Amino acid sequence: MAGHGEAIPMRSRAIGPLRGVAEVPGDKSISHRALILGALSVGETRITGLLEGQDVLDTGAAMRAFGARVERLGPGDWAVDGVGVGGFQEPADVIDCGNSGTGARLIMGAMATSDLTVVFTGDASLRSRPMGRVTEPLALFGAEAHGRRGGRLPLALRGAANPAPVRYATPMPSAQVKSAVLLAGLNAPGETVVIEREPTRDHTERMLAGFGAAVTTEVTAEGRVITLTGQPELRPQAIAVPRDPSSAAFPVVAALLVEGSDVLVPGIGLNPTRAGLYDTLIEMGADITFLDRRDEGGETAADLRVRFGPLRGIEVPPARAASMIDEYPVLAALAATAEGPTVMRGVKELRVKESDRIDAMARGLEACGVAIEEGPDFLIVHGRGPGGVEGGATVGTRLDHRIAMAFLCLGLATRKPVTIDDGAPIATSFPGFVALMRGLGAEIHEGADAPLARAGA
Ligand code: S3P
Repeated sequence: MAGHGEAIPMRSRAIGPLRGVAEVPGDKSISHRALILGALSVGETRITGLLEGQDVLDTGAAMRAFGARVERLGPGDWAVDGVGVGGFQEPADVIDCGNSGTGARLIMGAMATSDLTVVFTGDASLRSRPMGRVTEPLALFGAEAHGRRGGRLPLALRGAANPAPVRYATPMPSAQVKSAVLLAGLNAPGETVVIEREPTRDHTERMLAGFGAAVTTEVTAEGRVITLTGQPELRPQAIAVPRDPSSAAFPVVAALLVEGSDVLVPGIGLNPTRAGLYDTLIEMGADITFLDRRDEGGETAADLRVRFGPLRGIEVPPARAASMIDEYPVLAALAATAEGPTVMRGVKELRVKESDRIDAMARGLEACGVAIEEGPDFLIVHGRGPGGVEGGATVGTRLDHRIAMAFLCLGLATRKPVTIDDGAPIATSFPGFVALMRGLGAEIHEGADAPLARAGA
């Protein structure tokens, strides 16, 4: 759904410690994939714990438009009756992916090897993001894309009627690009191969195997080589979606920001291709205990107990970037209250997320009184120590849910409240965020009760 809604300014301020249990919603990446692979299998897939954020709801609506039955049975409980690989029908209208790059890119892949023409669009954020990174490899299968300058949305994609399988090395670390190629490979005869130099989240490979596709991953000198045999019959699955480590990052970091906090965040997916933030926090000196590590539906999960304590800035290893790519905004907010600089290099992908996240964090933190250094590929935050961040600013969130949540978390520990110009995008990934944080004792207000002066918008 393209976001034409009203902006919702929000403000957070420091009060007492955060305490209690933070039950964050289902994993966004896994939720998108469950709907798409459910729609590509024959028979009924049952999904529990599905994230009901707008991004995922938009993907569900898209799967309906391609002919699948997608039904909500209860909170987080969904049924998808799929049409099988190669069974997509041509949607009668434009596919609107709202704010979601994952939705847009994965669905493009899933339809690119069927004889259909589909027009994709999204909100102002998504319409500004590069799509050439998926339409280029999809062209190798025989698909044809006509987009705006730079391959941007709205874009029409004509799927290949007689697709050929592809061997493709991703030029940037991107699970979306890898997944688009693999999903396209489903309806191409023979073997489609994706090679990635740096490992990115592997939910697509895991879930394809769960649905019965022949998919292998080999670690070679070139990187990870993923081979998929095309035209399988996918078997419907029962999928229990683990809770999202990227959403968990917000209450976890909030507990580390606010003195005296002690928060339990249960059932968090800790797939190693996603869990880089937690290694980073431990290196900074965070008090986090991983309780009851277990396997949940092929993904590792644990309960996280997080207690406040002093943190030091560190140099985040660039090789870890892909495994925590969505967590840099909230890490940057936390780094502002650590002792000494936190150095984040090898992060140029942050410039093409829902917003340019290096710029959005840099401008917002500067407005809150934090010294920043930045470049095309790096961000350095000069930490001011606990209680050292002034705040008192209004930050532009640029249609980016993670920028919005990162600054609301920071405002729980600044001398003066932090205001964000628009918290509406939070609903794309974490609809219950404000209620959950208030339940822990955070003070977050909706609406501007003081004049808004935009910084970094
Ligand atoms: C995602 C991959 C990442 C991530 C995004 C979700 C996915 O994007 O930032 O939030 O579900 O595949 P890139 O593939 O652009 O790195």
